[in-house]
Amino acid sequence: MVASGLLLASLVTLALGKPATRNLKLHEAVRGAPSGFSLTGSADPNQTLKLRLALVQGNVTELERRLYDVSTPSSANYGKHLSKTEAHQLAAPAQESIDAVNSWLKENGITAQTTTTTGGWLSFEVPVSKANELFDADFSIFKHDDTGVEAVRTLSYSIPAELQGHLDLVHPTVTFPNPNGHLPVFKTPVKSKRQVDASCSSTIIPACLQSLYNIPSDAATQSSNQLAVTGFIEQYANQDDLAVFLKQYRTDMSSNTTFTLQTLDGGSNSQTHIPGFEANLDIQYTVGIATGVPTVFISVGDQYQDGDLDGFLDVINFLLDEDEPPYVLTTSYGQDEHTMSQKLAQNLCNAYAQLGTRGVSILFASGDGGVAGSHSNTCTTFIPTFPSGCPYMTSVGATSGINPESAASFSSGGFSNYFSAPDYQSSAISSYLSALGSTNEGKFNTTGRGFPDVSTQGVNFEIMVRYTLEGVSGTSASSPTFAAIVALLNDRLIAAGKSPLGFLNPFLYSTGASALNDITSGSNPGCDTDGFPAKEGWDAVTGLGTPDFLKLAAAVGL
Ligand SMILES: *[C@@H]1O[C@H](CO)[C@@H](O)[C@H](O)[C@H]1NC(C)=O
Ligand SMILES: *[C@@H]1O[C@H](CO)[C@@H](O)[C@H](O)[C@H]1NC(C)=O
Ligand SMILES: *[C@@H]1O[C@H](CO)[C@@H](O)[C@H](O)[C@H]1NC(C)=O
Ligand SMILES: *[C@@H]1O[C@H](CO)[C@@H](O)[C@H](O)[C@H]1NC(C)=O
Repeated sequence: MVASGLLLASLVTLALGKPATRNLKLHEAVRGAPSGFSLTGSADPNQTLKLRLALVQGNVTELERRLYDVSTPSSANYGKHLSKTEAHQLAAPAQESIDAVNSWLKENGITAQTTTTTGGWLSFEVPVSKANELFDADFSIFKHDDTGVEAVRTLSYSIPAELQGHLDLVHPTVTFPNPNGHLPVFKTPVKSKRQVDASCSSTIIPACLQSLYNIPSDAATQSSNQLAVTGFIEQYANQDDLAVFLKQYRTDMSSNTTFTLQTLDGGSNSQTHIPGFEANLDIQYTVGIATGVPTVFISVGDQYQDGDLDGFLDVINFLLDEDEPPYVLTTSYGQDEHTMSQKLAQNLCNAYAQLGTRGVSILFASGDGGVAGSHSNTCTTFIPTFPSGCPYMTSVGATSGINPESAASFSSGGFSNYFSAPDYQSSAISSYLSALGSTNEGKFNTTGRGFPDVSTQGVNFEIMVRYTLEGVSGTSASSPTFAAIVALLNDRLIAAGKSPLGFLNPFLYSTGASALNDITSGSNPGCDTDGFPAKEGWDAVTGLGTPDFLKLAAAVGL
């Protein structure tokens, strides 16, 4: 099929009297549309497609080396984070790549716009017929059966052989959109029955987390230390709800304490629309735990520059363009890893590495579907989530209960099929795999990067929504909680004249490991199995464990 497509493309080109056809080489292909999507026919050849090209990033090996160099406690350069210019230079494509791709576009009468500061992404519009010819593609209409979402996609595409090593990927092509609207959300935090419980064994309020994790309640002092919460469309973080929440649960704090707003892609934070459970949860458990740390809500709208990546790349590029990005970024969204192509996942993951070199700790919720990702029980092999499989960020799982604190059954964890285990994790994983024995054999990738890295409580958090207390559960609660603790550590570090923690994992898996409470009970069922069991040391449901602020402070030299 590929061969005949190639022939057809060449004939068309000749017929139109175009310059000599380039020798096209297959670049990305998928076996079929993701389950739930059906092919409904060819795309109208005249329909305009907005395509994005990612150029090969300049020096990814060096980018990774510098990331570990500034993030590994034993390194001489630990904490010597890069400037905006230095980080941009590491990731910027080589001039040869820019020239090669632009000259090929010019040859085809196309002028592309550069959409990122480093010139790493280009965008242009062409009719479907032209896109099919340029990339030996077969852009067709695919419809998602349940939601009716339609997408124009191709199951494979090729690029000129001479552009290999210069052109990283074309998007959107083989990666399909998220059918559930534009939100790459696992699910909104699950509402649970509200039971007021002073013992913290079934309901979590800020005081529970403070006592369980030894979190100080005295106010942070450093104004340069920002904690950022990402919000996506139709999720508004409500100021009044935060004030009522603080009045109820942080009587020791000024209920005037609030957050600031940044927007991109047309984002906004309406105070008159119904607030979002997700946004309110994330804001209430950052502002309400990271006492006095300047907190910013970053609202990403739907005027995406990154195509169907739903602003996931845009928000990182937005922060990479800041002279002083926030030191901690928490995001309670994600998706199944296989829903994006490996090249696209790698490209995004490298953007996290770039932001990590700047000294930003990037945390994401691991997901709420146990080992089944966002699928329920229809899976035969476990489904890892993205971006948790990316080794350059910190994935946060969930626990529940006290005495003992156990894995929450929904806490997503497992092993990536795209990213191999990084060095910082290899001994943790090999210990876990030996302890696991033959459990779940054949259902997961034993060479992949394991996740989550850490966890915190995630069940039955009390939040205020429209002046009403609600109980919610999810790793969506865990990521803001861990992020708040990191932000408090950064406050103390900066006050002591030290650097913020930046990319956390090399620290967490070395000198930080003993500052975490090891969780050894519970598991994350899914795909008709009991999932992964929590075990001594790192495990694929609670990671290294839950935080202890006092021990972490000692481990970072405070
Ligand atoms: C595409 O556009 C051309 C020129 O406007 C027109 O002649 C042709 O019929 C169109 N093709 C389709 C399939 O709509
Ligand atoms: C990447 O950077 C390193 C260090 O500056 C350099 O030695 C190496 O040649 C670079 N590699 C490429 C492909 O540019
Ligand atoms: C809250 O802000 C109002 C208006 O700025 C001020 O009058 C009040 O004293 C503040 N309350 C607290 C507890 O800081
Ligand atoms: C397993 O993970 C590795 C990366 O560690 C990857 O190269 C390989 O393709 C994966 N295998 C499958 C079956 O996905």
